[in-house]
Amino acid sequence: MAVKTATRLNLARRPRRLRRTEAIRSLVRETHLTADCFIYPLFVCEGHGVRREVSSMPGVYQLSVDEAVKEAAAAKAEGVPAVLLFGLPADKDANGTLATDPEAPVQSAVRALKRAMPDLVVITDVCLCEYTSHGHCGILDGEEILNDVTVGHLAQVALSHAAAGADFVAPSDMMDGRVAAIRQTLDERGFERVGIMSYSAKYCSAFYGPFRDAADSAPQFGDRRSHQMDPANVAEALREVEIDLAEGADVIIMKPALAYLDVIARVKMKFGQPIAAYQVSGEFAMIKAAGAHGWIDETRAMMETLLAIRRAGADMIITYFARDAARLLAQTK
Ligand code: PBG
Repeated sequence: MAVKTATRLNLARRPRRLRRTEAIRSLVRETHLTADCFIYPLFVCEGHGVRREVSSMPGVYQLSVDEAVKEAAAAKAEGVPAVLLFGLPADKDANGTLATDPEAPVQSAVRALKRAMPDLVVITDVCLCEYTSHGHCGILDGEEILNDVTVGHLAQVALSHAAAGADFVAPSDMMDGRVAAIRQTLDERGFERVGIMSYSAKYCSAFYGPFRDAADSAPQFGDRRSHQMDPANVAEALREVEIDLAEGADVIIMKPALAYLDVIARVKMKFGQPIAAYQVSGEFAMIKAAGAHGWIDETRAMMETLLAIRRAGADMIITYFARDAARLLAQTK
């Protein structure tokens, strides 16, 4: 315990000097988390006054259009500038017909949200898996997803969202050529101002499990390996991003986030384009579950993972924690 007689090191560099007080730490902090980079996902269903909690995602609800407007307004008041809409249609069929219905939940919600809050950024998920009875992301021939036929349908889905007033459409299907097809269809119909946020590198991931409960979109047979990416690959992600940018994507979405921070960093360095990273349902559920058990500090794990995603290079973060994190950031300002 001879503290005072400890060896006197002659150190030129002492990194701890920059960690001594919170004020010093804040001067040298390299990454800042702010609510204005958050995009808040909402699950919109039929009905009125509906607010149904998703069992595997505590604090996340299936919301009818009126409730979705309330939820988005609350998020916006807390500093969250954008929402990403997923739809739960009344009915599903083999071709996902209701995905283009102007009266379906997503299209109705877009109109209601833009009417109530014109400056809220409204982004819509474009995929068929929530609308097909078999739960696959496209039109099937036997057990095969037909790429080009599906792309034609997706372009019509995107058009119906643009016509409702969406600011961005976000194709998450991973079919080839869908960004170009959507861009062309939107432009032909006078929606050149509507942007495309494309899921360029969407990995075939176990972390989507809770989302499939929320959106009732689990495939009824097989899996999504024929279109979503192999978690082993990074060069392939760079190729996907290159293709989507060439086809006209405005923002690149990478997903999931935490297990793919290296991919986010590589894409940011190589392309320097706006990137949104999606902290997906399983990432959220793990933190919530461990937090509820007292095994980790939920709030700190939330902030640490969000910060890590920004540090890796994401400009925007799609996260179910958007409201919680925004409130916390406002308090600690
Ligand atoms: C497909 C889609 C999925 C997610 C977003 N868009 C699910 C899937 O590919 O099965 C997952 C998001 C999440 O897990 O939070 N429309």
